[in-house]
Amino acid sequence: MSSQDPTHPSSLSAYWMPFTANRNFKAAPRMLVSAEGMHYRDDAGNTILDGTAGLWCVPLGHAHPKIVSAVQKSVATLDYAPSFQLGHPSAFELAERLKAYTGNRFGNVFYTGSGSEAVDTALKIALAYHRAKGNATRTRLIGRERGYHGVGFGGMSVGGIGGNRKTFSTALLPGVDHLPHTHNLEKNAFTKGEPEYGAHLADELERLVTLHDASNIAAVIVEPVAGSTGVLIPPKGYLKRLREICTKHGILLIFDEVITGFGRLGTPFASDYFDVEPDIFTTAKGLTNGVVPMGAVFVKPEIHDAFMNGPDGIELFHGYTYSGHPLACAAGLASLEVFQTEGVLENAQAVADYFQEAAHALRGLPHVIDVRTIGLIAGIELASIPGRVGARAYDAFVRAFNDGILIRVTGDIIALSPPLIINKQQIDELFGKLAAILKTLA
Ligand SMILES: Cc1ncc(COP(=O)(O)O)c(C=O)c1O
Repeated sequence: MSSQDPTHPSSLSAYWMPFTANRNFKAAPRMLVSAEGMHYRDDAGNTILDGTAGLWCVPLGHAHPKIVSAVQKSVATLDYAPSFQLGHPSAFELAERLKAYTGNRFGNVFYTGSGSEAVDTALKIALAYHRAKGNATRTRLIGRERGYHGVGFGGMSVGGIGGNRKTFSTALLPGVDHLPHTHNLEKNAFTKGEPEYGAHLADELERLVTLHDASNIAAVIVEPVAGSTGVLIPPKGYLKRLREICTKHGILLIFDEVITGFGRLGTPFASDYFDVEPDIFTTAKGLTNGVVPMGAVFVKPEIHDAFMNGPDGIELFHGYTYSGHPLACAAGLASLEVFQTEGVLENAQAVADYFQEAAHALRGLPHVIDVRTIGLIAGIELASIPGRVGARAYDAFVRAFNDGILIRVTGDIIALSPPLIINKQQIDELFGKLAAILKTLA
């Protein structure tokens, strides 16, 4: 191996990999070296069909020429610009276009560098908003069990995945409570779209309001469709009910759209799909098609106004070195143009039913205890090997990679979320190979 050869690093030891079993990986690496359209290529020259859009973040497919060229042009023109007390045109242009993409229902956009930063930003905006309105006691934040909101201390605190919280338990934010999750296999197994059972779980918010008093609660944050915990689809009427209770008590509703934003359900945002409007929502991932890291928080005009009607000077003491990075803005502008001119959402809608049927055809295969689907998302839940939770799905992941398909697993749930440009033949390949793997799993 030579350090001059980009496909073969001189050593794997120095890189501490995120959310990875480092020792396992380094004993048998899976090394991606290039990508185009629906496919990755590994260092052995194998082609791998991308069934997960990277980490949910490449809705337009890899190496889209318009995005590549926009980023190339940008890096050669303005490589970096500070965004504290200075601006550059593409940051403003992108915000205007994003605002328009929400149908002008959201007035302003705050840039971050990732989904985790977007979540922490949204939580801070919620707290600062109530303070600006003279409601400084509204500080309590409410998340949901099994929610994933990234890895910052704010996001982890409102998040509800035990494994992510355990190690940091005493360092999590105080003043946080959680709604129950909505996952119920007894009632809802093998549902296509929104499950029938569980809207009443939103009423748990009333219980938390009684317990803490609305005057102490700043915001509720939920993923419209929870992804990282293994595809939990909201029961029919659940999000509407949450909206009603938040409105009734003056609590801000935050949707974390880091995976659902930018077309995953065939609509620009999940709020469009479910016809439920939050006060604030977070995005990242598909915002730049994953090409340059970026997140963005969208707020309703009245939230922004509360800051702009305050005292002169800096309205919000918050921001990042890479907020509105020129390369990210270039990637964002090009991505938005592709979304709007190349029929991407139309394709997502056109193949969604075929994709979902292909997923549900896995019902009856060994170990499959649930299949749930919405838009271009499928969750396939496997029975766990007693005492070895996650081992069966991890085995499927490794075999899938070796068979040329990229799937994602969390616990014993397989989550599929391909680029929105996927066609029927590729759907057949993805599920055909997955079915064959499921038949051979221990
Ligand atoms: C709903 C949700 N919020 C936040 C995040 C965190 O985003 P990032 O990894 O860019 O920090 C993720 C990442 O998967 C996510 O799915």
